[in-house]
Amino acid sequence: MIRRIDHIGIAVKSLDAAVEMYERALGLRCLRREEVPEQQARMAFFDAGGTHIELLEPTGDDGPIARFLERHGEGIHHLAFETDDIEAQLERARAAGCRLVHERPVAGAGGKRIAFLHPRSTCGVLTELCSIRPHRDR
Ligand code: CO
Repeated sequence: MIRRIDHIGIAVKSLDAAVEMYERALGLRCLRREEVPEQQARMAFFDAGGTHIELLEPTGDDGPIARFLERHGEGIHHLAFETDDIEAQLERARAAGCRLVHERPVAGAGGKRIAFLHPRSTCGVLTELCSIRPHRDR
């Protein structure tokens, strides 16, 4: 079952500049930073009343965030739903004919298990499923 919107991912060119803007212009405090090699990105998190904002900066030239920035520039990159059963949720999407970016969950930020649904199948919005339970292998 989908529980809530966990976070909104925003692709940025410079994490430092974006963090400063969020702190100065919006008065939000950066909760933590993290690098996820599997996603070739480093992130900064803000809490906006329970829903997090995840700023994403690419760490290489050919990762998903780098490619997104090349095509679209900075902007909203994905919407993440929290689920209590990511396998079942992925299976539901597959059964509904949804194109999957990940056939099975991968490691995401915060030690969570995540999987993306392709934006072609989800109204143009890259959609992330993320589990409540942390990744056991990390
Ligand atoms: Co995310």
